[in-house]
Amino acid sequence: MTYVLDEIINGKLQSAFAALGLDEKYAAARPSDRPDLSDFQCNGALALAKIEKKNPRAIGEEIAARLREDKDFAKVSVDGPGFLNLTLTDSFLADVADRMAGDERFGCAVVATPKTVVMDYGGPNVAKEMHVGHLRSGVIGESMRRIEKFVGNRPIADVHFGDWGTPIGMILAEVIAADGNLDKMETYDIAEITRFYKQANSRCKEDPAAKETARQITARFQDGDPVYRKAWQHIRRVSVEAVKENYRELGVHFDLWLGESDAHETCFEIKRIAEEKGLLEYSDGAWIIRLDESNKPKPPVILEKSDGGFTYQATDLATIKMRVDDLHADEIIYFVDKRQSLHFEQVFEAAEKLGIAPNVKLLHIGFGTVNGADGKPFKTRDGGVMNLADLIKMSKDKVSESMPAADPANGLTQEYIDHLVEQVAVGAIKFQDLKNNIASGYVFELDDFANFDGKTGPYIQYAIARINSIMRKNKNITPGKVTITNAEERALVLRLSQLNNVVFRAAAELEPSIISDYTYTLAQLFSSFYNASPIMGAAGAEIAASRLTLAKLTRDVLVKLLELLGVEAPEIMLKA
Ligand code: ARG
Repeated sequence: MTYVLDEIINGKLQSAFAALGLDEKYAAARPSDRPDLSDFQCNGALALAKIEKKNPRAIGEEIAARLREDKDFAKVSVDGPGFLNLTLTDSFLADVADRMAGDERFGCAVVATPKTVVMDYGGPNVAKEMHVGHLRSGVIGESMRRIEKFVGNRPIADVHFGDWGTPIGMILAEVIAADGNLDKMETYDIAEITRFYKQANSRCKEDPAAKETARQITARFQDGDPVYRKAWQHIRRVSVEAVKENYRELGVHFDLWLGESDAHETCFEIKRIAEEKGLLEYSDGAWIIRLDESNKPKPPVILEKSDGGFTYQATDLATIKMRVDDLHADEIIYFVDKRQSLHFEQVFEAAEKLGIAPNVKLLHIGFGTVNGADGKPFKTRDGGVMNLADLIKMSKDKVSESMPAADPANGLTQEYIDHLVEQVAVGAIKFQDLKNNIASGYVFELDDFANFDGKTGPYIQYAIARINSIMRKNKNITPGKVTITNAEERALVLRLSQLNNVVFRAAAELEPSIISDYTYTLAQLFSSFYNASPIMGAAGAEIAASRLTLAKLTRDVLVKLLELLGVEAPEIMLKA
């Protein structure tokens, strides 16, 4: 059975409100803004005062008088203009900790009506190496996927591979220019294909005729030319393999490996629906859908260009239709750079007009860029684009510096160290990405992101490994019933009891940083707890057993939180 502290407190408030004939809508508490005054606060009296036309303090006092009859509260006070401050008894809190420790979900609730949430956080493109711009989509999306799943929803992650459009025509044209035909296509690996793409890119920038050739080839390929399609299959296959390797290293999972190409057929349907609804317009050689401009000017959605090619907007509309029809999405969430905000605004409005996603929530979670110390998008030392693989390598090198040398004689194999370096390096990158508000960009802290101190992934990983070691040292003690004997124990338990609130807030606000913040303060509180509350030197076996329960619970909760962030928790951490 789950044991949700928020619900219990709210339940107590609701009964008090009901007994006084007050609207229960306002009977909601949240973790206190003034931890020096209380554990929880309720601001309902302020809202009720207006409705009841009474003094908020007077209403607050009436509610407080009721709540004081409840033996689970150590203190109930009315402060300021009418805030209700609630403090639980130590024994009640200890009981919460016991129940959390005895539940595999640590007392967390699940949503009453699970939703199918399609999550779009991939978006890499064929023949292009993944760069640091792709990092955030994957890292934020993966974390949100795990959070959605934990709260009981049904996430379906789709990579939405960029495998259509002009880049394909450009590569084909470049290979034809080099070889005369596409016969050798299948002998080219990802490095060679990427090189063809780079060459094509500079050629098309300089030479309008080359651009035109690429455009024509793209149109023929999209129309289904068998030779071009076969070559494309190969390009797509090797690109997917390369990208999968990147995502594997990063620990980012997708349920579906669909691409823009999979939406091609449905694009015709989108055009047909637009026509039926009288929304389709031919303008300047393109098929468009005009949007509502009464509030602000907005470019129309272009479905099809004059050359007959469907656009990025058309594929996104078609993909929405497929996600609704085939996957039965209740919500579709896009985790894409906020520079694409206008694109999504247009696409969502067009989807609404077309009626292809009735009652489906469409959301774009835009995020800022990863920047270098100069505030500009993060580059390699020589000023080039920072590839994801380079970034991971750089992070591993950094982490390796603080690792001990292998010592197989003492059971420390090179293999173990390599694996640890990978876990810590990737954890450091991901935690840094998730520690700030998602919407804002951040500066990649080259010197600090992998430190063992401060708000970093390795700090949390280290805190967990330390508790593991405490558990090993005390393995002769059996964890037992929790008793609160000092302020540090109480602070730790109170913080632990907020887990459900934190996870549900992160889910509702689509904000993993709520979890990373909480994880960090929880690790810090554990540290203070452990300094003040020795297990071995505890005054009695019961207190030692209680502290061991708290240590284990904190460890298990921290591991779960890192899991929700997509960060691994090594059993043992090593330092040089
Ligand atoms: N491939 C796109 C790009 O590189 C990102 C795709 C994002 N997802 C989407 N459904 N539009 O810009």
